[in-house]
Amino acid sequence: WVGSRQRISIMARINDNYLKLKAGYLFPEIGRRVTAFTESQPDAAKKLIRCGIGDVTEPLPRAVRNAMHDAIDELGERETFRGYGPEQGYDFLRKAIAENCYRHRDIAIADDEIFVSDGSKCDTGNFLDILGPGNRIAITDPVYPVYVDTNVMIGNTGEADENGAYEGLVYLPCTADNNFVPAIPEEDVDLIYLCYPNNPTGAAATREQLAAWVEYAKAHQAIILYDAAYEAFISDPEVPHSIYEIPGAETCAVEFRSFSKNGGFTGVRCAFTVVPKVLMGMTASGESQALHPLWNRRMCTKFNSVSYPVQRGAEALFSDEGKAEVAELIAHYMGNAKLLSDACLEMGLSVFGGVNAPYIWVGCPQGIDSWGMFDKMLNEANVVITPGSGFGSAGEGYFRISAFNSRANVEEVCKRMQALGL
Ligand code: MLT
Repeated sequence: WVGSRQRISIMARINDNYLKLKAGYLFPEIGRRVTAFTESQPDAAKKLIRCGIGDVTEPLPRAVRNAMHDAIDELGERETFRGYGPEQGYDFLRKAIAENCYRHRDIAIADDEIFVSDGSKCDTGNFLDILGPGNRIAITDPVYPVYVDTNVMIGNTGEADENGAYEGLVYLPCTADNNFVPAIPEEDVDLIYLCYPNNPTGAAATREQLAAWVEYAKAHQAIILYDAAYEAFISDPEVPHSIYEIPGAETCAVEFRSFSKNGGFTGVRCAFTVVPKVLMGMTASGESQALHPLWNRRMCTKFNSVSYPVQRGAEALFSDEGKAEVAELIAHYMGNAKLLSDACLEMGLSVFGGVNAPYIWVGCPQGIDSWGMFDKMLNEANVVITPGSGFGSAGEGYFRISAFNSRANVEEVCKRMQALGL
């Protein structure tokens, strides 16, 4: 809205890379379409069920709430009040993470290799701050759109073609034929984004597959940016929870993890990034440089960490009570995933994921493309899903259903999908 106010011409330069971005980040784009639907069909909109964005629905665990209440009370007393905390996160949380997520699994990660943050989305994008220009960047297709868009924003790509593929990125197709884990590229790349359990396909990577990637990264002196935001949903005991379960990964991988999906923190905001001290990059003049001090410097300069009550809440997820509540949340969402998968299978659709991840990746019925399926589900079933093509051209012909919902809503979604008579 500009109204009667006047615009004047300004000489300050903008970041033109933003103009290369396609239609908009997928979820805002879905939001716009859903808003148009709710405005044009207000009655149908009252029945709308959202299985699009993977946003949690169940209340915060009691252990978290109690810890946050206590932390607030501490802040209310002069003796226990705290101001700025350490930019890297409080020691109590870094230690709880390193012990519970790594050392208890015999993975040697030190407390100070953990950097607490307000989200893995932010961290995967922000990490580009400490990486130079000119890297050859490999991303899977389909992919979580943030990896692509943040590379576009920082100037690591050229323009997008008519399929939305950006010049300068190496796309690694993930298809049903390779179980949605990409083949190792023939060419040299410097940075590889991997996300397992995968968003959007729900696929899990085996130990052998991750070992092959680590071997590639070491042989090609590349870095793996490993997004493990969904590791808590792994049910198969053979599937690795961390890239660092692969020997040598600490020399070639950064790992991103989040409390959003396991602890229900999508609104609370807390995550962490692991930067091993032995992980090196290269300077413009060809010298080896550790990434840990660079990320530390970046965090100290641009971030003041997450609030004290939130960090106490995150710490509480590792208490006995917290762990039991997280297990219940995971069981709830994965129970939803099973219902949704079974409903799609009964409809004769091809179904992937939903076993080690809270996403179900479904082949569209014959003759309907991804956005066609989105529109059909929105208009005829009043259910929001995510069109597979929004995650990349290899996602065309698929749609994603998020299992993050109440049980009642999921049961209703199953009924409405079956009533579509596809
Ligand atoms: C998704 O739906 O893909 C995720 O919720 C997005 C996110 O975690 O940022």
